[in-house]
Amino acid sequence: MKVLVIGNGGREAAITWACRHHGHHVDSAASLPAEFDEHTRPDLVIVGPEAALVAGVADRCAAMHIPCFGPTASLAKLESSKGFTRMLAGRLGLPSPAYHLSSDAEEAIAWWREFGKPVVVKLDGLAAGKGVIVPEGPDLHAATEAAIRELVAQGPIVLEERLSGPECSLMALCDGTVARPLPVAQDHKRIGEGDTGANTGGMGAYAPAPIPYDPDDLTAMFIQPVIDFLMDEGAPYIGVLYAGLMLTPDGPKLLEYNCRFGDPEAQAVLPLLTDDLAALALACCNGELGDRRINSQGAACTIVAAAAGYPAAVEAGAVIDFGDETTDALLFHAGTDGVEVTGGRVLAVTGLGANLAEARNHAYGRIATIQFDGMQVRRDIGWRAIGAGLSSYAAAGVDIDEGTRAVDQMKAAVERTHGAAVLKGVGSFGGVFSGAILKEMDEPLLVASTDGVGTKVELAARLGRYRGVGADIVNHCIDDVLVQGARPLFFLDYIASSKLDADQVAEVVTGMAEACEVAGCALLGGETAEMPGVYAPGAFDIAGTLVGAVDRAKLLPNAPLVAGDVLLGVASNGPHTNGYSLLRKLFEWLPMDAVPTGFDCTLGDALLKSHRNYVPVLGAAIDGGKVKALAHITGGGLPENLPRVLPDGINARIHLGSWPVPPLFQLVREVAVGMATHELYRTLNMGVGMVVVCAAGDLSEVQASITEQTWVIGELITAADAGRTVVLL
Ligand code: AMP
Ligand code: GLY
Repeated sequence: MKVLVIGNGGREAAITWACRHHGHHVDSAASLPAEFDEHTRPDLVIVGPEAALVAGVADRCAAMHIPCFGPTASLAKLESSKGFTRMLAGRLGLPSPAYHLSSDAEEAIAWWREFGKPVVVKLDGLAAGKGVIVPEGPDLHAATEAAIRELVAQGPIVLEERLSGPECSLMALCDGTVARPLPVAQDHKRIGEGDTGANTGGMGAYAPAPIPYDPDDLTAMFIQPVIDFLMDEGAPYIGVLYAGLMLTPDGPKLLEYNCRFGDPEAQAVLPLLTDDLAALALACCNGELGDRRINSQGAACTIVAAAAGYPAAVEAGAVIDFGDETTDALLFHAGTDGVEVTGGRVLAVTGLGANLAEARNHAYGRIATIQFDGMQVRRDIGWRAIGAGLSSYAAAGVDIDEGTRAVDQMKAAVERTHGAAVLKGVGSFGGVFSGAILKEMDEPLLVASTDGVGTKVELAARLGRYRGVGADIVNHCIDDVLVQGARPLFFLDYIASSKLDADQVAEVVTGMAEACEVAGCALLGGETAEMPGVYAPGAFDIAGTLVGAVDRAKLLPNAPLVAGDVLLGVASNGPHTNGYSLLRKLFEWLPMDAVPTGFDCTLGDALLKSHRNYVPVLGAAIDGGKVKALAHITGGGLPENLPRVLPDGINARIHLGSWPVPPLFQLVREVAVGMATHELYRTLNMGVGMVVVCAAGDLSEVQASITEQTWVIGELITAADAGRTVVLL
C-alpha cells in the first residue's frame, strides 16, 4: 500500500515505522496536500495529531474517496472539548469523576468551595496535554484558586474531582461498529522523576502495563459504548479512540478521550504489534474489523529526550549527537530536523524485550549514547510497574512464612540445649539466662566472642551441606573463650541469606544446637535475615556470639610466659574456618567428590570437616592448672595467633616437620608452588588447631592430661634480635 502519514512527531515516526515494517510505502506530510495525482494519491491516510483531525483531514479525504484512519472534525470534539466528553460520559453512564464546566473564575471558585474536595483544573479546549493544572502544596485553597484564575484567563475550564491511582492509556482501533484494544500503555506525563512537576505531553511510556484489568473489559466499559452511541447518531467513529483512565480504588474511571494514538504511547505500543497496522487501519476504514483481534508480543519501554525548557518555552538549535545506532532499540525523531533540536520532545527511544525489564535496559542503553545541550531525560520510566507487580512482602523476596517454618523445624533441636538456666529462649525478644551459677565463683568473669565462618559457607551451600557450618561457628566461638580459660554459657546465632529456605536454615541451626549440646552451652536465641539483593542468589552467611565464664583465678594466661616454655600442638580437624578463599580458588577445577592421593575421604569432605571444640580434649589439662596459655589457631595461622598471647620480649620458634601435616594441607603445599612457607602458615592452620603453652618441667604432666596425641612443635625464646615474633624453622 501507499500510505500517507499526516504529522511529523515521534508518534508519526512510530506509525511510519510500523507501516514500513510490513512492507508498505510511506510518505509523510505535516498536513493534507490539496490535491493528488495518480502517482501521489495514497491508498490510505493515517492521521497522527488531533489538530489535523479537528481541522478536517478526515472529512476532506472522504470527499476525495481516500480511506482515512481518523475521525471527522465533528467527532474529534471528543478530544477537543473536555466539556463535551464529560456530558457524553454522563449520558452513557461511564465511570467518571464529578465535574463542573465554567467560564467565570468567581463562579468556578464558588462551585469548588461547595464541592469541598480537591480538584483538577483543565482548559476545555485542545492544549497538547498541557492545559491541566493539578493544584498541590500546603495551601490547597490558594493553589486551586490560582489555577482556576490562570486557566479561565485562557478560555472555558472544567473542574474535575481529583482522583487517585495509577493511570493507563487504553487505545482501541475502531471501524465504526467495533473497537479492538491495543496493548494497554502507561504514560509518564509529568516532567520530573517520581512523576512530579509540570504536566507534559508525555516523557515516556511502557506497554503492556501491569494492570489488574483485561483490556477487552476496559474496552467494553469505556470505548464500545461511545462507538455504539455515535453509530446510532449516524456518525461512525473510524480511527483510534484513546481513553485516559485512572485506576482508582473504586475501579477504573475516565479522565479523557483522545481521538488519535497517544504520544509517546504509540512509540511503545506499535512496535509490539505482530499484525500489519496499515492493513488493520484500512480494515477500519472499510468497516471490516469484524471479530479480528490485534496480536502483539513482548514488552516495550519508550523514553523521551526533551529539549531545554520543555514543557515551557523551548530553546531550539542544539546540535544532536544521535549516538550509537547499533544498539538494540528504535529511535524515533520528534522535534528534530535531522541535525538540530526543533521542538520540545526531541527524540523517543523504544527498547523492546521479552519483559519490561529487558525492554527498559535496551531503551536506557540506547539513550545513554545520545547527547544534546539541555537534554532532559527521566531516569525512572516504568518505575511504577515494579510496584504493580508486588502483591506481598514475599513478592519482594522476603518470605515471613518461610521464616516461621524454619523456626518450627529448628525449635526441638534448640530446646534440647536449654537447661534450667534458660528462662526465655527461642521466640522471645531477648534470651534470658540465669547467672546463678556464677555465684559459685569467687570472681566470675564473662568472656564473650563473636565470629563468622568466612567463605566456607559458600562451599557448604555449593555442596548442600549445611549442618557442619552450624557446628563450625559454635565451636569456633567456644575455642575463642576457652583460650581465656572460660567455659561456654550461651550462644546466639545470626543467619542471613538471599532467599530463605526453611530446610537449610533448620539444618544450620540444628548443627549449631548439636554443637551447643555437646558443649553444655545453651542456644539462647538468634536471628534469621532474608536479604535479597544484598547477598548473591543462593548465598548465605552465618555468625554467632558466645558468652562464657571463668573464675578470675583461672583466667588464662595464668603465669608469665618465659623463654624455654614449651609449645604443644593439638591437632586440627581440617582448615576449620580459615583460608577458604584460598582453598576454593586452589581447587576450583578439581571435583569436590574426587579423592586425592593420601586422602581417606573426598576433597569436599576434607574441606568441610567441622571446627573442633577443644573443651573435651583440653578441659582436664586446663583444670590441672599447669597450662600457662592457649592460642587458638584461626585466621592468621600460627604466625599471627601465637603473638596474641605472647608478652613483650618473648618470641616463639616453631619447628616445621615436628607434627604430621595432614594430607589436605600437604596437597595445598604441593599445588600452591609459588606460595612462601610463611604465607602458607599464615593462611592455614596446617594441622595444628590449638597450641598449649606450658613450662618445660610440666610438659609430661600436661601431655598426659590431654586425652590424645600432641606434639612439641616449638618453644618460647627471648626476642633478642629483630625479626618475626614467630619464627618458622
Ligand atoms: P488530561 O490531559 O485530562 O489527561 O490530564 C493530564 C493529567 O492530569 C492526567 O494524565 C492526570 O495525571 C492528571 N489528571 C487529569 N484529570 C485528573 C483527575 N480527575 N484526577 C486526578 N488527576 C487527573
Ligand atoms: N501521552 C498522552 C497523549 O498523547 O495524550
